[in-house]
Amino acid sequence: MAQEDIFKKLVAHCKEYGYVFPSSEVYDGLGAVYDYGQYGVELKNNIKRYWWDSMVLLHENVVGLDSAIFMHPTIWKASGHVDAFNDPLIDNKDSKKRYRADVLIEEHIAKYEEKVEKEVEKARKRFGDRFDEALFRQTNPQVTVHVEKKDALVARLAKALNDNDLVELRQIIVDNQIVCPVCGTCNWTEVRQFNLMFATEMGSTAEGASKIYLRPETAQGIFVNFLNVQKSGRMKIPFGIAQIGKAFRNEIVARQFIFRMREFEQMEMQFFVRPGSELEWFRRWREIRMTWHQALGFGAASYRFHDHEKLAHYANAATDIEYRFPFGFKEVEGIHSRTDFDLTRHQEFSGKRMQYFDPELNESYVPYVVETSIGVDRMFLQVISAAYREEATDTGDTRVVLKLPPALAPIKLAVLPLVKKDGLPEKAGEIVQRLRLDFRCQYDEKDSIGKRYRRQDAIGTPFCITVDHLSLEENTVTIRDRDTMSQERVAIDRLPVILKEKTDLKNLLEQVAVGFRHW
Ligand code: GAP
Repeated sequence: MAQEDIFKKLVAHCKEYGYVFPSSEVYDGLGAVYDYGQYGVELKNNIKRYWWDSMVLLHENVVGLDSAIFMHPTIWKASGHVDAFNDPLIDNKDSKKRYRADVLIEEHIAKYEEKVEKEVEKARKRFGDRFDEALFRQTNPQVTVHVEKKDALVARLAKALNDNDLVELRQIIVDNQIVCPVCGTCNWTEVRQFNLMFATEMGSTAEGASKIYLRPETAQGIFVNFLNVQKSGRMKIPFGIAQIGKAFRNEIVARQFIFRMREFEQMEMQFFVRPGSELEWFRRWREIRMTWHQALGFGAASYRFHDHEKLAHYANAATDIEYRFPFGFKEVEGIHSRTDFDLTRHQEFSGKRMQYFDPELNESYVPYVVETSIGVDRMFLQVISAAYREEATDTGDTRVVLKLPPALAPIKLAVLPLVKKDGLPEKAGEIVQRLRLDFRCQYDEKDSIGKRYRRQDAIGTPFCITVDHLSLEENTVTIRDRDTMSQERVAIDRLPVILKEKTDLKNLLEQVAVGFRHW
């Protein structure tokens, strides 16, 4: 099945099984805004817990913060968002559709990558075990032509964006004959800049209301609280401040479900370091964050780094962690070495010192900052698209299963009496009572046991506990494993230990911790 079709099915599945609903659906929805249903909110909370614990629990020198969404409007002037948080937009005169010029070009670049991958796959099939992929990529004339064209286009786009050259952006689109995906013509307007911040007013007009912004990133709340946290927590550099919270962007090209939303959530950590040590810390955080992603077990080949060619004016190193979504490799997380730009700007605009006194050096300085920034919703999409499978079963039908990592699954176990009589529901009820304070449980007695297993597969429950007649005699149950569908009979008394071992978040955190034991 084409990846596009799988993605459509995934979106439908998320709605049908209570993961994600379009916002305001009874009023025909609101573009690029979504609500999380009963299972979605649990998965989201588990993702946030995984991130939070891997920052704040695993590092003594990283602490949390929860700053307000509304902030003083000068913050956004200082950060550069008022003047420069823009997207270059272009309209097609025939379809009247609006696009981000850089995204149109990036999608064209992705087509070269797809062509290369197709050639590689064809050759792999043709040569079988004798296939030398590295050699093929270096020497096949079709592949090298695609790669050269792609590299040239990447460099031209990076230069145009760096120079903020809107005329050149349009020219790239025209020269590459990039057409409107809707009407297929190349009849484009000029490229214009469009600011992405949502504005609103605070106070009544009688008092003279002031214009304020909904924050487009959570990071600035951390910067302006840097000294509050450092002093009240007696923090010594290097140290980090982590925050999870909502952010808002008036995205023009909002597509691909929850990948690009207008209201979304970020998990950001700013790590404050001595000037000169930032690139070493940047390298460390780059590795740690990749380990965090890969601990989920979706396979190393599903991830890659994308080091930035075009660096924002405040950064001296930047990389994205990209995940292979059904619609291609896309950014999930950004890691930036942001220098002292933000703190220095807040120092200038507020007139307050943003400096740290370093007792070891006996001097004060504005710290440098390494940032890790990941979208909760994009991470959710990564997890759910990696987990979604349609599998043929031995009985000849298909089961839809969400192979979620057990530590992230919304429901950890379902307790199912084999039949609705003979005291089995009561026995199952006792088991639920015993486990419910430690594990998110579900009790289900409706329909055949096969149908109930399928329902649990579809919401990603890793374990089904079945209570049968032997359970009454022996005080045992069977545990069915969602992924292998195999069943094992175990003593009811052992359930708490077995389930903890299999579903504990610690299983993931231990893998992340391995990378920085030496800190
Ligand atoms: N403080 C840095 C910052 O905000 P960013 O690359 O603009 O950097 C960081 O955003 C992360 O936030 C992205 O990697 C992505 O996961 C998420 N994100 C950004 N815009 C988003 C949107 N419109 N919808 C969903 N997630 C988004």
